[in-house]
Amino acid sequence: MTENHDSSATAVLREEHQLILSVAHHLKGMLAADRDGAPLDYDTVGQCITFFRLFADACHHGKEEDLLFPGMEAQGMSRDTGPIAVMLYEHDQGRAFVATMAGSLEGARSGDNQAGDDLRTAADGFISLIVDHISKEDNILFNMADGMIVGAECVKLCAGYEEVCGRTFEGRTKEDLERLAEEIL
Ligand SMILES: [Fe+2]
Repeated sequence: MTENHDSSATAVLREEHQLILSVAHHLKGMLAADRDGAPLDYDTVGQCITFFRLFADACHHGKEEDLLFPGMEAQGMSRDTGPIAVMLYEHDQGRAFVATMAGSLEGARSGDNQAGDDLRTAADGFISLIVDHISKEDNILFNMADGMIVGAECVKLCAGYEEVCGRTFEGRTKEDLERLAEEIL
């Protein structure tokens, strides 16, 4: 990506939200079709799990937890109560849903009904959680961050984002994961 991410404290994160939402909506559509009798494509579900684990969690939540939230704490917000605490709790809930999806995928694929139920329940839970979570960040927390982290602090934060985005996540670059999303979609 070549966009200028130095425009605000949250621009790159808001942009990543859109891709996460697109994949979540795609999976939601697959689950709805499955309920209507179309067999679930487990390969694509597996790609969604990889995307959620590496892009949404490692790359995206990593930047929020290690850079944005500490930046807001430096401006006086608490990590232990209020909106940041809620966001951290929801990240943990999301990780648990994705771990359940990953843990039940192969069982579901091989016809284990319990694993199939676990996979679908966790996927439904994750989609509801992430849609609501992103709405709260985009409309509340990130607006607070944009007002709080400006000037030199914002430039420093964005340099940190660039550094994380330049890493690999289990051997995949951010661009690899964006391509994975394109394949899913
Ligand atoms: Fe986020």
